[in-house]
Order: sequence, then structure tokens, then C-alpha cells
Amino acid sequence: MSCDPRCSTLAIVCISHTIVNQEALIAVVSQHPRRLPANYPSHLEQEIVLPGGDVVWLRPVVPDDASVLAAEFAEADEDTLYMRFFNPTFALTDERLRYFTQLDYESHVALAVMTEAGEGSEGMAIARYVARSTTDVECAVVVKPEYRKRGIARVLLIRLAAIAATVGYQTMSASYLEENAAAGRLLESCGFLPKSTEAGVVEMSRSVQSDSSTTRAV
Ligand SMILES: CC(C)(COP(=O)(O)OP(=O)(O)OC[C@H]1O[C@@H](n2cnc3c(N)ncnc32)[C@H](O)[C@@H]1OP(=O)(O)O)[C@@H](O)C(=O)NCCC(=O)NCCS
Repeated sequence: MSCDPRCSTLAIVCISHTIVNQEALIAVVSQHPRRLPANYPSHLEQEIVLPGGDVVWLRPVVPDDASVLAAEFAEADEDTLYMRFFNPTFALTDERLRYFTQLDYESHVALAVMTEAGEGSEGMAIARYVARSTTDVECAVVVKPEYRKRGIARVLLIRLAAIAATVGYQTMSASYLEENAAAGRLLESCGFLPKSTEAGVVEMSRSVQSDSSTTRAV
């Protein structure tokens, strides 16, 4: 799946044109979810010790995150938005917010990394995968600039790969602009291999079955 070359003006990890334009991948500031959906996978909540020793809290995104997601989107820096979205006039509509936050936690999973568990914690990053077939999911991640280069994105992608494997998917894909060295290095470090390059967008893919990189990160 390739991205429209006109999209190259804006994205980071596009995954696919469809998902890039449908998925919010900005960091979220949120309180711990007080209202959990019936299908909320609480077993996916996890305390994470980052490589530098910082302890953070990982949890699935919930519908109540919509308002803070919208606030973060409004406040996100231009570069992050530019790196994320293909369309400079991308608007985070109510419909998209619902799409981003009302998940089935199987074909569409989103994880947020928070500074700590509980109310008042700050969102540091968000990542998700969306199934694009019965065997493959597409993933993307954004870490707030002040929290980058701490290993957060790597933890998120490896965790998503492990979840996808549990659900029964075989592969995880992601795409990024050729000039996005951070995304390229991130995906390489998570075991993704180059699949194609078209109009300045690199697509990579990896198996999500158990391997050393999965067990090492989570
Ligand atoms: C790309 C992005 C998600 C990386 O997040 P991060 O939390 O800083 O990444 P990590 O700390 O987990 O680093 C993962 C790997 O990428 C490398 N990396 C991270 N940022 C880098 C940069 N700016 N340049 C080169 N390598 C970089 C790290 O060194 C690490 O490699 P290693 O395992 O060999 O040490 C973050 O820069 C971001 O949100 N960018 C905007 C959105 C984006 O590009 N998303 C695409 C992700 S698929």
C-alpha cells in the first residue's frame, strides 16, 4: 500500500494513506480512565521501566481520552503535526476522535504511555495498530518531543507486536518518510525490515510472532 506523494509534505509513519488520515497519533494528557468500556483489556495495563530507569505507566486508550486527545492535538507543535499528517488542513473531527478512542482492542488497539498510573498523570506517547487484513496490522507511534529518545516508542511498538500476535495476526507494518531518520531507526530496532519505497515513503514490516526483540522489550 503506498502513500500519495502529495502526502510527503506531512507525515511520519503513515502506515497507509487511509490510516494516516484517520488516526490521531499525538500524545495524550489524560487522567487514569474512570469509565472503562465493557471490553477494556485491563490486563494490558503495565508498569514499564525504561532503559534509563524511569518508571512509566502503559495502558489502553479509552473513550474518555477523546477530550484530552483533542486538546493535545490543538496544542501539538507544528513539526510533530507536520510529521504525522499528510494533509496540512487535517481536522480532528468528532467522528475521528471517536474512531481513535472507541476501540475493539483486537483489530484496533491503542496504547498510551503515562507518567504514572492514576488521575492527573501526563500522557507521554501514544501508539496504535489497525488491522488491514486478517493477517497484517499497521502501526504508528508518536512520542511527545520532551520524552523522546528514552526508549518509549520502542517499548510501545514491541508491546503492540506482542498484542497483535496474541490476537492472531502474523505481521505488523509501518511506513515513514525517507527523511525521517528517527522513525527508520526505531523500526529497524524493533525488527522491521524494508518492504518497499514509493514516492518518498518507506514501508517496513515484521513478523509479530515471538522473537528475541519482543521478549527483550516487554
Ligand atoms: C520517531 C519517534 C516515535 C521515536 O520515538 P522515541 O521514543 O524517541 O524512540 P526510542 O527512544 O524508542 O528510540 C528507538 C530507536 O530509534 C532511535 N532514535 C530515536 N530518535 C532518533 C533520532 N532523532 N535520530 C536517530 N535515531 C533515533 C533510538 O536511538 C533507538 O535506536 P536504538 O534502539 O538503536 O538505540 C519520535 O521521534 C516521534 O514521535 N516522532 C514524530 C512521530 C514519528 O515520526 N512517528 C513515527 C514512528 S513509527
